[in-house]
Formats: sequence, structure tokens, C-alpha cells
Amino acid sequence: MNKFYTTTAIDYVNGAPHIGHAYEKILTDVIYRHFTQRCQDTYFLTGTDEHGIKIQKTAAEKGITPQEFCDINAQKFIDAWKALDIDYSQFIRTTDKQHEEIVQKIFKKLVEKGDIYKHAYKGLYCSGCEAFLSEKDLTEDGLCPNHMRKPEIVEEENYFFKLTKYKDAIIKHIKTNPDFIVPSFRANEVINQLENIEDISVSRVKSNVSWGIPVLEDSQQVIYVWIDALSNYITALGYNPDGESSVEFNKYWPAEVQVIGKDILKFHSIYWIAILMALDLPLPKHILAHGWITIDQTKMSKSLGNVISPTSVLEAFNLDIPDPFRYYMASAAPCGKDGNYSDEDFKEKVNAHLANSMGNLLNRTLSMLVKYFEGDIRPEFLEENELKAQALETVKAVKHHFDYFEVQEAAQKIIELVDTANKYVTDNAPWSLAKDGQIEKCGKVLTNVLQVMTVIASLIYPYCPNIAGAMAEQLGYDINTKLDDITCESLKAGHLIDKENIKPVFLRMDSELADKKK
Ligand code: ME8
Ligand code: MG
Repeated sequence: MNKFYTTTAIDYVNGAPHIGHAYEKILTDVIYRHFTQRCQDTYFLTGTDEHGIKIQKTAAEKGITPQEFCDINAQKFIDAWKALDIDYSQFIRTTDKQHEEIVQKIFKKLVEKGDIYKHAYKGLYCSGCEAFLSEKDLTEDGLCPNHMRKPEIVEEENYFFKLTKYKDAIIKHIKTNPDFIVPSFRANEVINQLENIEDISVSRVKSNVSWGIPVLEDSQQVIYVWIDALSNYITALGYNPDGESSVEFNKYWPAEVQVIGKDILKFHSIYWIAILMALDLPLPKHILAHGWITIDQTKMSKSLGNVISPTSVLEAFNLDIPDPFRYYMASAAPCGKDGNYSDEDFKEKVNAHLANSMGNLLNRTLSMLVKYFEGDIRPEFLEENELKAQALETVKAVKHHFDYFEVQEAAQKIIELVDTANKYVTDNAPWSLAKDGQIEKCGKVLTNVLQVMTVIASLIYPYCPNIAGAMAEQLGYDINTKLDDITCESLKAGHLIDKENIKPVFLRMDSELADKKK
């Protein structure tokens, strides 16, 4: 694999980021960083979704213009992702001029092709979903099941997209590519939705929705926010519907994986795919639909008002690096399932895995090498060894899990290796070997563990880039080796550990301190 393009959903800017948004961005960042360890060329797109009636209304309530409102809130997302070390290549805002212009051209192209037509229509619109709902979607009380609000009756003449034209092709694509929708158990859900699909309204009358991209040559109509938003994945790269696209577009499109939440799978596996088919563009290789982050087993959402901000978690635990939170979130749930967040669980898991198991193992092994051998890896310490063989097996297993975007499962493999290495140290008790004068054996045990620690640092890097960096620095090896080339032999004979460098890579989160801070 030479290139890898990944995207996240772009978040609505009608509020501040919460840890559900953070979960998705961390998941994608971990996937991106892992594939950067395997591919020559990688690109990671994220951003914000800034048009639509919901933003227009919230801005009006605040007495500012929609653009001012978007500018204030988009910055909150940018700041939060910085605090979490989300290493995106580009942050797109749907109010970017380039995006707006390309969306207009895409719309025009689909009108010219006959896939978009004008039609008088009456329907029920939920501004929470930014979508028309049908009667059968509603609860018994006539509410939107996602937002528990009554949809508005909208009667307009607007543009429609011929979704029905692409129905059979989408069903066929999903059936012949069982790994297209990840996890695959969601594919049936999509097929069922496709059975009853109708053409969809893709514009609104400007007098009803003014905050959007105007249709070219029909300025009384504004392009439907989902058509605008979904297009971001190609406008960001410089797709040109009317001629030659940019070098970036030709290099990166189609995406290897588009990461989204399960609530917007329909938009991505049906609407988005139909648009791409209509534009004669290749389809993304995979759509990864992750589950919810819940609080007390209830979905966290702006509309329910039970949101936690990611930066408030870092502050509450007095963390100067985001690694523990990244690690916890990335391993919060099996692929596609929901995961619950609690302060207590966060603290316990991170203390156990990162401080007690991994950090301690490195710290005491390095300290013993310094104590007994002045940090010197002597030539006679190098040997073939079962633990080292297992480390290389773990690399294979981790890569395999990432091929299926099983980020939690991959983390478990890494921690299993850490546990095995800890057991190896306990079983071989290098401190007793040193006492008994079995110097060479002692040196071999320590060297084996440190060589395995280089592999662990590389594997944990996508989750914990700062901690992994500190581990690599103390070990004195190059963490940038591609995973395909990784061996346990990066610490060569004569390698010297600098004792001045040795310090814990991660301290246990002090519960009292954390409580006081709150
Ligand atoms: O849907 N747990 O924006 P959004 C996990 N603008 N993920 C969650 C979550 C939770 N509690 N709450 C939200 C939109 N998300 C559109 C997307 S893409 C072209 C346009 C996820 O701000 C949600 O599933 O409502 C989605 O993937 C992302 O956060 C943005 O949600
Ligand atoms: Mg939402």
C-alpha cells in the first residue's frame, strides 16, 4: 500500500466539541498514524460543517451573524484537536471559498446530467438531523426519534436528486464488497434502508433557509446542507467537476477509510455513494461506522445536554499530554460498538496499563542495565529469544487488526505483549541473577526486554505519540522505522543507555490531586 487517505465526519459548529466528537477524531488519528508507519504517503482530513438551518437559528438566538458564530465555534474544534495532538493534514470548513465554489459546480454538473430536477414537495423536516423524515420514521407521538422534537412541515418547490437511479448499483456494491461497511453487521441495515429509498430533496428555498451555498443560476435556492457537507471529502483535495482535478485529488482519492458515527451511516453509505456514482468517481474502500460514547450508558449529545468537553478531562486530571486520554478513548469500545466514559474507569485503566505495566517495565529495566552494566549492551548479551519472537508476532497481529480498523483490539495485543514481558522479568528475576553472579544471563534478560520495548514503543506510538517518543529517547533508537521493517535489533552491541535520560514516561494519575482540581 503506497498511499492512505482517511477522513472524519465534519462536526456541526452549533456547539463546542465533546468527547463523542473527540472519540471519532482520536480513532481516526490512531488509524492515520498507524498507516503512516506503513505507507509512503498519507493524508488525513477533518473539519467543520457550518451551513444549515440549525446554525442559522442558533446564531440568530445569539444575535450574531452565522459567519461570526461559525468562526467562534470552529476555533473551539481546532483548539481541542490541537490539545489532543490530532495530526490532521487539513482542516476544512464548509464556509471556505474553494469548498463553496466546487459544491456549486458539482450541483450544476448533476443538474446538467439530469440527476437533479425541480419538484414541488411537502414534507417533515427535523433541523436536528438536517433531514426530511417520513411519517414512519417518527415516534408514536410524532417526534424525531434522534432529537425527540417535532419536525416542521415544509412545503416548497425545490431540487431533487435521483437517488432511486442508483439504488440497485449501491445494493450490488454493498453485497459484492462485504468489507465496504465496517463493521459488516451494519450492511444489512443499509440494504433494508435502500429497499424503501426515494429521491431526496437537495435544496431549500432561500426565504426559509438563507445560510447555505446558493445554487448557481438559481439564487432563490440554497444547496441542501448534507450535499454541501458530504462533498467536503473531495473539495478539500481540489476535485474539479469541469476539468482536470488537482494533483492531490488524483493522488489521494478514493479514501481508504471514511470514519463516521453510526447515526450518519445512511448519509455516507447511500447518499454519498450515489453522488460519487453520479459524478463517475471511484468509491471509498471502507466506511467505518463507530458506536456512541455514552455517559452512564446514555448517549452523550448536545441535544440531551449531558456533554463533557475533552479539554476539561485533561484539566481535571492535570494532564500535560493527551496520551492517556487518547489511549483510553481509542480502546473504549470494540470496533463499531458503543463505549462508556467514566472518570473512575479512565483513571484505573490508564494507571494500570500505561503507568504500572508499560512505564514501570521500561523504567526498572533501564535502571537495572545502568546499575549492573553502566547502561552498556555488551555483544554477549544479544541472543535469539522467545520473547523477541513474540514481539514480532505482535507486530503482525496489530497490523492485522488495523487492516480491519480494530483499534481497541490492536491495543489489547500491545498490552498483552507488555504483560508477557513483565512476566518474563518476574520469572527470570534479573536482580537475583546479578546477586548470584550470573552476569551474562542477567544482561541477556535485560537486553531482551529492552529490545522488545523498542517494538512496544513503535506499536503504542499511534495511541500515545508523546509517551512513545519519550520511550524511544530513553532507549536511544529511531522510532521512525516503518513497521514492515521493524526488528528487535535496533539496540546493537555497544549501545549505551544514558542514565541521565531515565525517568518515568508516565506517572500514575493522582486521584486526590485530580479530585482537588475539579
Ligand atoms: O453529524 N459518541 O455532525 P455532528 C460518538 N455535521 N460519536 C459521536 C457522538 C457520541 N456521543 N456524538 C456525535 C454531523 N458523534 C454532520 C456530519 S459529515 C459529512 C457531516 C459523532 O456534530 C457523529 O456520529 O452531529 C458524527 O460522526 C460526528 O460526531 C459529528 O456529529
Ligand atoms: Mg449529531
